[in-house]
Amino acid sequence: MYIDEKAKILENKHISGKTWLLRLEAPKIASTVKPAQFVMIKATEDFQYDPLLRRAFAVADVKDKELLIFYDVYGKGTKSITTKKAGEEIYILGALGKKLFPENYDYYLLVGGGIGFAGLSLFMKYLKNIGKPFKAIYGVRRKEQLSMLDWIKENGFENDVIIYTEDGSFGEKGLVTKDLKKFIIGKKNISLAVCGPKKMMKAVVEEVKDLKIPVYLSLESKMACGFGICIGCVIKNIKENTYQRVCYEGPVFNAEEINIEDF
Ligand SMILES: Cc1cc2nc3c(=O)[nH]c(=O)nc-3n(C[C@H](O)[C@H](O)[C@H](O)COP(=O)(O)OP(=O)(O)OC[C@H]3O[C@@H](n4cnc5c(N)ncnc54)[C@H](O)[C@@H]3O)c2cc1C
Ligand code: FES
Repeated sequence: MYIDEKAKILENKHISGKTWLLRLEAPKIASTVKPAQFVMIKATEDFQYDPLLRRAFAVADVKDKELLIFYDVYGKGTKSITTKKAGEEIYILGALGKKLFPENYDYYLLVGGGIGFAGLSLFMKYLKNIGKPFKAIYGVRRKEQLSMLDWIKENGFENDVIIYTEDGSFGEKGLVTKDLKKFIIGKKNISLAVCGPKKMMKAVVEEVKDLKIPVYLSLESKMACGFGICIGCVIKNIKENTYQRVCYEGPVFNAEEINIEDF
């Protein structure tokens, strides 16, 4: 069951690079949202229809009635969201997505690339709350792109997250795949939860292929409706030989279920 809620903007600020933080008061959605779910945000006013389609964003954190969203600015939709001020209202539809990260593993390795880390942060918080062991890897090209660094510190995850920058400007130098196997070997009943750019997700899947461990990918395919009616986000489930909607049957898929070239 999803809700179309008029959320109050509490904060909408530029963080660094192309990333902004949006803090919303949305009590109805906040009370139902689960890790890996997302919302569709209407970037315009009630009476405006350009851009017509809402834009999808992961819920990075929930605190009481509040939702936290980190968004990168690309085009019309996200540029329009940057113009919104605290105190204004914005329509959000959520919480969307049915297939989430499975909870039956004993250890989790989370791997997030760029803004994709926002697709894992709520799951990380959940794992900590229920006392399940995990480590998280957060990779970006350079330090300025570490838009969730303050959130990591403020929420006490400094010892749980290992940061990689491609240019070595912060944390470990290299790609998220650099030491991946080191974090996996020796762990029993482990699974990977991954979110980020397609190229990164593909590299993670390739890197751990020979270890034969389950890898769950939270896909951020282009979406029009976000709740299953437009069939605009379908992907082939090669195990079941059916087409599935990323927004409705996903957004999380076992890497074995899909052809990584497809999304
Ligand atoms: C389930 C889900 C969760 C998501 N979570 C987040 C999130 O938490 N934070 C976030 O920042 N984004 C997230 N996204 C991506 C976000 O929805 C898009 O970046 C957004 O819709 C872009 O809208 P726009 O109007 O600014 O760009 P558009 O006008 O739609 O596109 C402008 C140009 O930018 C390109 N473009 C659009 N989006 C991207 C992109 N993501 N990467 C590279 N190029 C792009 C387009 O191809 C086009 O050339 C998520 C997407 C999905 C499906
Ligand atoms: S976006 Fe419409 S069916 Fe998925």
